[in-house]
Amino acid sequence: MALLEMTGIEKHFGGVTALNGVDFETDAGEVMALVGDNGAGKSTLIKTIAGAHQPDAGTIRLQGKDVFMRSPQDAWKLGIATIFQELALADKMNVPDNIFLGQELRRSILGIPFLDRKRMRQRTRELLTDLEVQIQDLDLTVEAMSGGQRQGIAIARALNLDADLIIMDEPTAALAVAEVRKVLDFIQHLRAQGKGVILISHNIQDVFAVADRVTVMRQGQVEAVRRIDATTPEEVIALITGARAVDLSHRPAHNTGGDAAAQPTPAG
Ligand SMILES: Nc1ncnc2c1ncn2[C@@H]1O[C@H](COP(=O)(O)OP(=O)(O)OP(=O)(O)O)[C@@H](O)[C@H]1O
Ligand SMILES: [Mg+2]
Repeated sequence: MALLEMTGIEKHFGGVTALNGVDFETDAGEVMALVGDNGAGKSTLIKTIAGAHQPDAGTIRLQGKDVFMRSPQDAWKLGIATIFQELALADKMNVPDNIFLGQELRRSILGIPFLDRKRMRQRTRELLTDLEVQIQDLDLTVEAMSGGQRQGIAIARALNLDADLIIMDEPTAALAVAEVRKVLDFIQHLRAQGKGVILISHNIQDVFAVADRVTVMRQGQVEAVRRIDATTPEEVIALITGARAVDLSHRPAHNTGGDAAAQPTPAG
């Protein structure tokens, strides 16, 4: 049974059709890459998995059960953590407050609940150490932090949710080489723990470095699904752009004048 199974997903924004009958699935212990050109519908699709958008049609099944998510909080409760393309950090808050945003730890003194800042700070340190993210002063607001640090904080927040499915929308886009390596290591670490990971990336090299399968989207639809060990970067790029491999056997006869007609026609 697939960890996540989406069928016939549609999403319209006014006159714009962002998703047009999308079927998508991913398994536990798998890294599923989601690729496609700008505007193909990748972010919209994962926002429907993350509870940030509600699909206009279609079903979402998690571990075999139909789910309906009205908010990102609903998705968290179901074990889905999403790191959005826009990162969605609270710029004016410090590091622990970002990591525990919406799921603050509390303790009670004489029956009165207080935020447990000490435990949140401790846990933040542990998470960042695990991820090898260097941040000296946790009390600084995150607005001035580097792309890599911000990515690290967003990943730490997802990790802290202890989700079964982690979705990352362009996690390496703004990062330096060493930071990219760290994020890819982290993705492999999650897979080794049996979690499902959906990785949206424009970087084909990253996709081939960590993914088990790749789903290619084009113009709001799924163009193809391939196992990484049964495809090539060239094929994936051709699927993204909609370019077909030249297949002479399908050329109309009147169009084969010149040298092309002399080429051997591939069988099958
Ligand atoms: N909130 C919205 N309102 C109106 N149109 C939207 C909205 N969100 C997405 N769209 C449109 O839906 C289509 C798909 O957008 P989406 O952001 O999902 O693409 P994407 O594949 O993530 O692209 P990119 O690679 O650039 O991030 C685009 O035409 C986009 O303009
Ligand atoms: Mg996007």
